[in-house]
Amino acid sequence: MITKLLSYNNDGDAAINEAAEILKAGGLVGIPTETVYGLAANALNENAVANIFKAKGRPQDNPLIVHIAQLDDLMPLADEVPFTLIQLAQHFWPGPLTMIVPKSDLVPDVVSGGLDTVAIRMPSHEIARKVIMQSGLPLAAPSANLSGSPSPTTAKHVMDDLNGRIEAVLDGGSCAVGVESTVISLAGETPVLLRPGYITLEQLESVIGHVSVDKAVLDKLDVQAKAASPGMKYKHYSPKTKIVLIKTDSDSAFEQYVNNQPDCGVICCAEQKDNFTVPYVVCGHINDPASQAQELFDALRQVDELNKNTVFARCPDKDGINLAIYNRLIRAAGFEVVSL
Ligand code: TXA
Ligand code: MG
Repeated sequence: MITKLLSYNNDGDAAINEAAEILKAGGLVGIPTETVYGLAANALNENAVANIFKAKGRPQDNPLIVHIAQLDDLMPLADEVPFTLIQLAQHFWPGPLTMIVPKSDLVPDVVSGGLDTVAIRMPSHEIARKVIMQSGLPLAAPSANLSGSPSPTTAKHVMDDLNGRIEAVLDGGSCAVGVESTVISLAGETPVLLRPGYITLEQLESVIGHVSVDKAVLDKLDVQAKAASPGMKYKHYSPKTKIVLIKTDSDSAFEQYVNNQPDCGVICCAEQKDNFTVPYVVCGHINDPASQAQELFDALRQVDELNKNTVFARCPDKDGINLAIYNRLIRAAGFEVVSL
């Protein structure tokens, strides 16, 4: 299959129309969202959704997020709409928040991975919204990477992974948030954070009160354990290079540790790069976690170009957006942390 590269910059609404037509015909299109690029298909077309799993090499039991453009689109998909969803939607939709609710019979089992719940997100990205509205469909869309590799934040990343496997990619520039949406389950007695993101735990709690944090957000799951969010049990975000996190409060201790291992590389903030004598990949700015989140996946993709066996990164804090960075990096590192 030849993957067509559509450009919103060059062709505007004509590119949107073409993407929408492909989706209506049951094809797959990589589309930009404010978080990462998604691999979209008609969520109500079982064949099209099955092709998402094939194109990504994604395990069948890992459910997909359904993307909508307005609150009215939610009602047919949900069996029940908790009041907490309405409260959170008022604050954070459209935006990088995914909410899990009991699903209606309209949502095919292939979308929910056999679960009786469905994950819903209303993106804020102008192009994503236009594609949803133009197609008139709810769009199932996981991140548009090969399963296991870092999520894509540019059209080039999508092409690098999926060229020849999908009908088209709609280029809309690089994604502003850079890490995937915050995922919260509202399907049980208490709200549970399943995946941290740009919308922070603190922000969620300021609207609906206490939110539990699923164990898999911070810790490695037992192979046997049943994951509340199936995606969390799989290897994730991994470059080919081994990543090791270094936990320390001291910039100079980190620099010294890394510089003492000349065969390695490092992921560091722009302001720190000159302090290293080993090859580096820059990821965001110091004391600016939003910029670090935005550049994280691109940095993880660049790491392999250093051609080193091991690349070190500083272990992030766990407050605010840092929690999202920690959650991704700890998986990229296979939970390997060295404390200084
Ligand atoms: O920002 C995002 O969320 C991006 C863009 C494209 O919207 N999408 C994305 O999708 O990251 P994906 O498939 O890469 O991650 C979805 C996560 C997975 O960990 C999956 O297991 C979880 O959400 N998930 C989806 N439906 C679920 C459900 N019903 N119950 C529990 N977890 C669910
Ligand atoms: Mg993903």
